[in-house]
Amino acid sequence: MRSTAAANDRTSRKTGIPKLSSMDSSLSLLREGYTFVSTRCDRLGSDAFRTRLMLTPVVCMRGADAAALVYDSGHFDRTKAMPIATLRLLQDEGSVQQLSGEAHRVRKAMFMAVMSPQALERARTDFAEQLRAAVPRWQSEGSVILHDVLRDVLTRSVCAWAGIPLSDREAEARSREFGAMIDHAGSIGPRLLRARRLRNRSEIWARGLIERTRRGEIKAEDGTALAAIAAHVDADGKSLDLAEASVELLNVLRPTVAVGRFIVFGAHALAEHPAWADAFAAGDEEDLEAFVQEVRRAYPFFPVAGARACEAFSWHGHAFQAGDWVLLDLYGTNHDPRLWDSPQEFRPERFRGWQGDPYTLVPQGAGAFDTGHRCPGEWLTIVLMKEAMRFLTRNILYTVPRQDLRINLANMPALPGRGLVIADIRQTT
Ligand code: HEM
Repeated sequence: MRSTAAANDRTSRKTGIPKLSSMDSSLSLLREGYTFVSTRCDRLGSDAFRTRLMLTPVVCMRGADAAALVYDSGHFDRTKAMPIATLRLLQDEGSVQQLSGEAHRVRKAMFMAVMSPQALERARTDFAEQLRAAVPRWQSEGSVILHDVLRDVLTRSVCAWAGIPLSDREAEARSREFGAMIDHAGSIGPRLLRARRLRNRSEIWARGLIERTRRGEIKAEDGTALAAIAAHVDADGKSLDLAEASVELLNVLRPTVAVGRFIVFGAHALAEHPAWADAFAAGDEEDLEAFVQEVRRAYPFFPVAGARACEAFSWHGHAFQAGDWVLLDLYGTNHDPRLWDSPQEFRPERFRGWQGDPYTLVPQGAGAFDTGHRCPGEWLTIVLMKEAMRFLTRNILYTVPRQDLRINLANMPALPGRGLVIADIRQTT
């Protein structure tokens, strides 16, 4: 929680942005992963420093002030903000994330419109249904890797929610493709090429869905993502072309499947802090949200968010020029000791009665939903995580066999061990 001391600290910070002495920090970033930015900020006593990554000058920054600057100041956009290979696997060219100003606002409204309370409730029930349907299969296998099996469940449930008809064969293919896009967004070489090949298949499938919806062959209900994207009209008065529409459809489906990673972290937290599992098993609903917020804060997901200055401006004595590249440390901001007491401790209690703050809890970006690049899927993520925690503590019994549950912060994206093995699974209700 943000304290007064933290707020004071934000105004009394040193001006000027120090520069690292090393020529290039790419190898250090790869070696250290999630802690790369904050280790250096701590050492330099500064919330920002200059270095080079892949020989390109960059300003790395962390903290609530930096989050406000990058997300809500209007000085930044996302043009060339991440390596092109990563961009092609994640948001992609032509997506909402690449837009600015009015064009961005109108496209973003399309995403926000499919996140109504009714739509989120449908997402919850679709997910609960698919989770229950999966249990006999998990049971017959004796033990499963939670991360892997959630992919299939989430692919089926997000497609049902988005209004997309899906055969069993398609569910398997899509869940493999979405998984590869998420896992290999930071890869290079053959793994990246394979993920690109799989992404192309998903794109062809998504284009077919848009075409069939526009021809009336698929009757997607109003309010579903498929219906909204197929019918969307951009700020320029034009419908999305097939490439843009398929990219945006994948931008709903792929990250929703990625919520499985947060659910695995939630299961990890339940295993490490069994008192919370007991409370939820006994029906505690009040602390569920605090628990999943703490999982989102404490566990490593997106390490940083990239942006480019779109105009010249000055910040803490540093003159930014148009085109300057910055990386905001999301993980480091979620662990900033000035914003969070004992940030390394897992303490859901800190979120009891939390009023929210757009710049301190930033696992899915910061700032405003409608006018900035904050993730439109945040509420959906929370709804699915809460439902998964209910399911794991109330609908099934399972054991967590001996395994290495350590989370290596040098691996991006991180996971506990191979993705958390659970065994002896039995349905209780
Ligand atoms: C799995 C957990 C998720 C994480 C960790 C995550 C993370 C993020 C982050 C950090 C951003 C900001 C990117 C930036 O600043 O340029 C973002 C944006 C975005 N996310 Fe998510 N996200 C998640 C789930 C979702 C879900 C469920 C959706 C489904 C709708 C979604 C769709 C998007 C889109 C479309 C954007 C671009 C928004 C814009 O540029 O205005 N994400 N996400």
